[in-house]
Amino acid sequence: MDRNPKSIIEIIKSRTSCRTFQPTRLNEEDKTKIIEILKDIDLNSPFNEKEQNCRFEIVELENKRPEEKRKLGTYGFIKGANQFIIGLTRKSNYIKEEFGYIFEKLILDFTKHGFGTCWLGGTFNRANYAKTVNIEDNEHILCISPIGIPADSRRLSDKLIRRAIKAKKRKKWDVLFFEESINNSLTEKSAGKYAIPLEMVRLAPSAGNKQPWRILKENDKNNFHFYWIFGKNISYNKLHKVDMGIAVCHFDLIVKELGLKGNWKIEQESPYNFDKFKYVITWNGE
Ligand SMILES: Cc1cc2nc3c(=O)[nH]c(=O)nc-3n(C[C@H](O)[C@H](O)[C@H](O)COP(=O)(O)O)c2cc1C
Repeated sequence: MDRNPKSIIEIIKSRTSCRTFQPTRLNEEDKTKIIEILKDIDLNSPFNEKEQNCRFEIVELENKRPEEKRKLGTYGFIKGANQFIIGLTRKSNYIKEEFGYIFEKLILDFTKHGFGTCWLGGTFNRANYAKTVNIEDNEHILCISPIGIPADSRRLSDKLIRRAIKAKKRKKWDVLFFEESINNSLTEKSAGKYAIPLEMVRLAPSAGNKQPWRILKENDKNNFHFYWIFGKNISYNKLHKVDMGIAVCHFDLIVKELGLKGNWKIEQESPYNFDKFKYVITWNGE
């Protein structure tokens, strides 16, 4: 396993969801590293101003009996992992987007250190996981992820899941990115120095690999408006705000890595009006 620190671009390119982990127990060094990463987490995002409404706990399943594990809904489906990161949120404006941003940053940090992870927003039992952590009355488990050392090869069931959701595939630029109007696709050439941040959005994980992000660039300006598109599946639509937080995370980390200056702003009204597109946030680049 490559455990050398890499650039964010390389980390994003190398990350894939992991559902098959090495069955051996994590050694003390790895456990300490996981705790350290969680402790150092930066809870700021372009979506929050002062209040921070998410936090993360780690759940250890090593000593739990198989019946207990089975009730959690991840048993068998996620193989070999004995530790899960639980993402807890309190109700607030933009909490789903904020959570997506922060949890993805955490996931990329784990990836950088050679750990495998898998965003889980649907395929686990929320009520039973809630019993494994100290959850406050006003808190809710939004998503979780197993954490461990990836197995050398994926199991058949893992491969089948990936094949069913076409996990390797991403939509092309002309479906995702536009200039001035949704009738005009944005090319990598006209994106200029923003081609890499946009490409890193394109590679982002999303619930069911639905890739709901749509980004519109203003003509002759480096202003990028982030939207998401409604799909037919309501349960996925619920997670699209989380997906948008992940997309903003990738874009933001890359513009920082490339030294591109600008700032994030949530406009009161959508800069453009499109039937099925829901406005989220704007990057105003210099
Ligand atoms: C918000 C969110 C929720 C997800 N929920 C699940 C889930 O419940 N079960 C699952 O197997 N994968 C889940 N995934 C993983 C996606 O299926 C996966 O990211 C996508 O297929 C792309 O594959 P990749 O991550 O390997 O690039 C989720 C991903 C995101 C971003």
